[in-house]
Amino acid sequence: MNEIIISVQEENVIKKQGDLFGIFFEDLSHAADGGLYGELLRNRAFEFDHIDNPQYHAMTAWEETERGNSMLQAHVECWDPRTRQNPHYLVMEVLTSGEGAGVRNVGYNTGIYIEEGEKYDFSCWCRLRRGGSESFEVRLEDVSGGKCYASAAVSASPDGWTCQTCTLQASETDDCARLAIVSKEPMTLELDMVSLFPQKTWNMRKNGLRRDLAQMLADLKPRFMRFPGGCLAHIGSLNKNDRNAMYRWKNTVGPAEDRPARKNSWNYNQTLGLGFYEFFLFCEDIGAEPLPVISAGYDPHYLRAAGMDEMQEWIDEALDLIEFANGDPDTKWGSVRAQMGHQKSFGMKYLAVGNEEVGAEFFERYEIICSAVKEKHPEILLINSAGPGSGGSEFTKGWEQARHTDTAFVDEHFYQCPEWFVANAHRYEGYEQGPKAFLGEYASHDAAWQNALSEAAFMIGMEKAPGMGLACYAPLLNNVDYTNWKTNMINFDNHRAYGTPSYYVQKMFMNDMGTELVESSCSGLQELEKPLPVLHGSCRMWTEQSDVAIEDLMIRNDDTGEALCIGSFALTGLEKEKMLADIGWDNYTISFGYCRKAGGTSKTLTGSMSFRLDFAMRDEDNRLNLVLDGWQRLVSLGGVVNGRTCDMGLYHAVIDMGETVYCSLQVRRNHISAQVGEQKMEHTCLSPAPDELYYSAVRDEEGDVIVKLANLTEEEKKVRIATQKERRNALVREISGCSPEWRNSFEEPKKVSPKTELLSVEGKELAWRLPPYSFAVIRLC
Ligand code: AHR
Repeated sequence: MNEIIISVQEENVIKKQGDLFGIFFEDLSHAADGGLYGELLRNRAFEFDHIDNPQYHAMTAWEETERGNSMLQAHVECWDPRTRQNPHYLVMEVLTSGEGAGVRNVGYNTGIYIEEGEKYDFSCWCRLRRGGSESFEVRLEDVSGGKCYASAAVSASPDGWTCQTCTLQASETDDCARLAIVSKEPMTLELDMVSLFPQKTWNMRKNGLRRDLAQMLADLKPRFMRFPGGCLAHIGSLNKNDRNAMYRWKNTVGPAEDRPARKNSWNYNQTLGLGFYEFFLFCEDIGAEPLPVISAGYDPHYLRAAGMDEMQEWIDEALDLIEFANGDPDTKWGSVRAQMGHQKSFGMKYLAVGNEEVGAEFFERYEIICSAVKEKHPEILLINSAGPGSGGSEFTKGWEQARHTDTAFVDEHFYQCPEWFVANAHRYEGYEQGPKAFLGEYASHDAAWQNALSEAAFMIGMEKAPGMGLACYAPLLNNVDYTNWKTNMINFDNHRAYGTPSYYVQKMFMNDMGTELVESSCSGLQELEKPLPVLHGSCRMWTEQSDVAIEDLMIRNDDTGEALCIGSFALTGLEKEKMLADIGWDNYTISFGYCRKAGGTSKTLTGSMSFRLDFAMRDEDNRLNLVLDGWQRLVSLGGVVNGRTCDMGLYHAVIDMGETVYCSLQVRRNHISAQVGEQKMEHTCLSPAPDELYYSAVRDEEGDVIVKLANLTEEEKKVRIATQKERRNALVREISGCSPEWRNSFEEPKKVSPKTELLSVEGKELAWRLPPYSFAVIRLC
């Protein structure tokens, strides 16, 4: 076996690592309510509405209960609310005496999780309309209602809304518990903002976070946290008072009970109880720089754009946020922060405006906000967007705009197959001086060890690239019973949580990020063969919901001039798919005219309106494609590799209904050039074969050298690490001995996770055998 020698020149610093690796919190898959936010009750303020989700109503997650002879009538109304912000409240009318009647909250997942001996803070706003009795009973009980784990008597006042509280101590552990509010005597009680928190929230904060989840995030030691989301930040009505408004941070601060409920763009309700103040506080608690994302007054999904004469509101969204985070307590927004309990500035230095936007509407609006922020707050490091793809028109525009507006970072997003991450592990080497890259969302599709390993190779590339600024994996949190997005870093239910293999890779990078990249070189590497992808196979055209006319379709061999003239046809009715030919050539052009005859308008285009030309197709799981009329009016080059998708560039090209555009797709070995109307696209497919070894070296403030090694091959590697200075110990953290397809689960949460070993080192060298399919972080002290 050849020996690979990694020579580390720890005295030669190449760059500072800054805040390179962080986390990205998005409230999707119930990451906030029913997730990180510690509130145990669902629909606590009776504000759930069909606007959030067609299945929701004001009593979602509440059930009525009548025991013995007790009878109940309950309804939700909004005539005389506690606050107009949250107008709905429950009227609970106990009609007869008996064993108790009232309502129960079912919580999330299987129910409310309570632990034996733990205390829970109950609170509610209530008003006695009529009674009989002035007090009611609050109970933690089992699913049948037959077993009571804790109970307390709470009074209501007939003189208006008051906030009532009590503490409940659970006598048993149960993950299906219910919170019941019942009365044995007749009374009419109005209830709003009914809340139950464990006393032990993370860091014991009021209105705090779920302990285990927050701790898992803290354990990562992220250098920054991007929040409150990606699409979440820019989908919705532009009027912040609308029930389906875009996420607007001003709606999320101040007393939790006064924050208005809003539709979450992932089709559920968000209480906004976990709001911007709580995000900033959490960042401070875990030592992460806050990195908020705000909209530029443009919703690219539904093409809602603030008028150019309405942009002041969106400029203020940015300027006021800076004041809220950093301003003196005597400023308007600084005083809101101070009243919430934080006199000191949060020291926010990053601000992202936009997320994956597509279209000129965004770039015009970004520029206005950018110059206003730069003028008033030159200290703020702004981040713009390079669209949703790994290349293409919006990507190029994002970068060009960042250069000419002197924007500090450009936000790129890659959700790709693992093969893409391996093929692109050196992608950031080529990034020039100027704005730095912010990889604000990335993940390889699926949650097996193979995926995390491909990310490790890619992250080593990011660590070493001078043009790389910040990076965070996405999405972070997934409540398994409310999943919106398939691959996530942490999966949880109401009482359990586990990290995927990617969680452990992220943790290893962040825990041992170091402060400076140092020079390192490698000898003894074998030149592994890296076969280039072969782009021949069959071709097919496909559409799902639209009707399409294809004209003069021709496939030509560009070496010999031989041509297959297929002619004109329609994809319509039941004939939405057509196999065209099986091509063995590796130098060919497919040309045709395309016209969408029916299906979607430019405002309503979704993925299902798209037209697809599959090519280089070996089977359903391995093909490339050119997509027209796709999501967000995009034209794109992409593919499926071993059943998982990758994008090769997204281009903004609006094709009007009834318009015929000329399209051509040329394949030259592993290079593709396509043209749709005026829009030109280029892509070179790289080899997905891994390097023999991926490595990087950094050092930290103490002078420790940290070497990261990723072996994506099936052979063990014999490695020798040589440093400039003598070392005493080596702390090795390594994930090895796992098959590429292994994954973690609730049952085996740490099946793929690192093992730690402490070795003594004599002199300046350490010999290490790196097992097949492994990732190691070696700290030399
Ligand atoms: O992370 C999930 C989603 O992916 C984000 O909301 C969006 O930015 C991207 O499309």
